[in-house]
Amino acid sequence: MALKLNEKYLNGFINDEELGAMKPELEKAIATVVNRDGEGNDFLGWVDLPVDYDKEEFNAIVKAAEKIKNSCDVFVVIGIGGSYLGARAAIEFIKSPLYNNMKKDTPDIYFAGNGLSGTALEELLAICEGKDICVNVISKSGTTTEPAIAFRVFRDLLEKKYGEEGAKERIFATTDKARGSLKTLSDEKGYQTFVVPDDVGGRYSVLTAVGLLPIAVAGCDIQALMDGAAKAREELLGKADCDCAKYALLRNYFHRGGKAIEILACYHSFFTMTSEWWKQLYGESEGKDGKGIYPASVIFSTDLHSMGQFIQAGTRNLFETVVDVKDTGSSIKVPDDAANLDGLNFIAGESLDKVNHYAFQATALAHNDGGVPNIVLELDAKDEANYGYLIYFFELACAISGYMLGVNPFNQPGVEDYKKNMYALLGKPGNEARRAELLARLAD
Ligand code: PA5
Repeated sequence: MALKLNEKYLNGFINDEELGAMKPELEKAIATVVNRDGEGNDFLGWVDLPVDYDKEEFNAIVKAAEKIKNSCDVFVVIGIGGSYLGARAAIEFIKSPLYNNMKKDTPDIYFAGNGLSGTALEELLAICEGKDICVNVISKSGTTTEPAIAFRVFRDLLEKKYGEEGAKERIFATTDKARGSLKTLSDEKGYQTFVVPDDVGGRYSVLTAVGLLPIAVAGCDIQALMDGAAKAREELLGKADCDCAKYALLRNYFHRGGKAIEILACYHSFFTMTSEWWKQLYGESEGKDGKGIYPASVIFSTDLHSMGQFIQAGTRNLFETVVDVKDTGSSIKVPDDAANLDGLNFIAGESLDKVNHYAFQATALAHNDGGVPNIVLELDAKDEANYGYLIYFFELACAISGYMLGVNPFNQPGVEDYKKNMYALLGKPGNEARRAELLARLAD
């Protein structure tokens, strides 16, 4: 199990002297993480999480997952941002993006409260009709509007369907250990609760109950996931000569050379939500103080037919990071066709994964020719252990990269601005002056 950085598609894009000159900065950033003496150092709980987690709670998660599996057809996971993306990403990667449509002995899993679309909520309610439901409401602060609204709707549904007592057995809350309205409500109602540790921010929380409970309900081996992350920690933490550090270094190197955008690419649709998780991780960690690399993503070869033109020949401010999954477990081959009207018999009998790999090599060389460097991260296999490794790799690289960039990788002050405006426009008490100012601007 491992994630290896392949430099083949960086040929001609790196000046060794310039890169070498950045090494002291890299070492300083690594030391800042290890010594816990940088900005945001009270949010470094994720660093030791793979080896230093609450075993009692871990067992309670496994037990709750079994209970949920045995008592519902539909499991609704309510949360937004870091309280949603990691779980969905892991389930889609390890199981399938079509998980809900697969034959399985685990419940369908739907995600709610990650937006304010009434249509999305109504559609989910329609799907839930006549089904047995369990709910996991996840909010570290316990006060985020989007999940709070969705939870009102589902709490009401469950209480009407099962009564207060019955609903209590079907609602699981993941939140702060002591603070916030969700914690207060959960204690009042008697829901089973799981903890988001104080020192783990939302986007770094996938290996806490935030991610682990939904991932376990999907039938994934969460112990293997933690073991994979622990292996990454052992191999990468504090090391300046490892691939994780190299990835952080290269990102900053390209950024300083004028590359404003990093595109995360993968050749499998099971990676789509992992890219969304990665975008939040890097976007929220680095995009501040007028700085940061804009994190974008594509799924190839699909997006070669939409974004391929731009990447090949548009504004030259891009670099790509390609996650190359080595063993996907797929064995489907291109069929032989006697008529050969499409002229594809020359690849009849080849596995689709092999064809896909040629697509990757062909694309990487073409993009190189178009002036786009490709960092390639080779992941051994599509399983829990490798995914745990990947999570830790990206989290650690993000922290190092953020410190190299000169930002606090663990806060997100900018996220508050839309909230303040929204509360004011909605007429939340205490926001009268802002409301008047915004209404005047909107009336112009
Ligand atoms: O990374 C973060 O901190 C955010 O994305 C939060 O996870 C997100 O805003 C949800 O917050 P909460 O879990 O408090 O509801």
